[in-house]
Amino acid sequence: MDGNGRWASSRGLPRTAGHTAGEENLADVVRAAVRRDIGWLTVFGFSTENWVRPRAEVRHILGLHERLFGRIAELNENNVRIRWIGRPFDGPDARTPRFVQRAIRKAIVDTAHNTGMVLTVAFDYGSRFEIMEAARRARNSNEPLTVSSMSRYVHDPLLPPVDVMIRTSGEIRVSNFLLWQAVGAAIHFTDTPWPEFSAEELDRAISLVGRQ
Ligand code: FPP
Repeated sequence: MDGNGRWASSRGLPRTAGHTAGEENLADVVRAAVRRDIGWLTVFGFSTENWVRPRAEVRHILGLHERLFGRIAELNENNVRIRWIGRPFDGPDARTPRFVQRAIRKAIVDTAHNTGMVLTVAFDYGSRFEIMEAARRARNSNEPLTVSSMSRYVHDPLLPPVDVMIRTSGEIRVSNFLLWQAVGAAIHFTDTPWPEFSAEELDRAISLVGRQ
């Protein structure tokens, strides 16, 4: 969801206003994805590298996660189930404050009965950590290191392979996101900053599925 900061700066607004607009747009995109019968939508909310941002910006983004995970009634109305991927809360590098942990746990429990789209939020997430950790766990279990053993030890073994990766705001490069799961994915690169990413653009991204 790149481009929140630049979107805000170009309007003379603080970067935090861009993140707020980004969270609101995510709620719209989730509804659009549900209407299009998308089964799984995974978003990069906060990376393992994002902690070095200015404190006030980090605090603001954490608050937006609390807001998103707090949209229980809306998620239930749309039959959306919440899941989370990221570094374990009790791991050696853990930094997730308790209020975010609580919001994540509550959203997972309160939406567990839903049968529609799964919205997975990557929070304190990084693919390199995920892959290293999966390799470590596979090795500790004395299983041979194979694609299938690794796939059992990634953060969420149920997460299916990625069909389409969307990268907003003119970033024409891969990031530290779902690198294990994205083998073979189509990539929709767009100049649109995340706060303006629309349902029509989602349609253009989806139309890449199945193309060779
Ligand atoms: C990248 O834009 C965006 C983030 C690091 C934060 C993403 C968070 C949100 C959209 C808030 C709501 C989302 C959830 C899941 C609650 P950037 O800050 O790098 O902007 P820039 O590329 O213009 O600098």
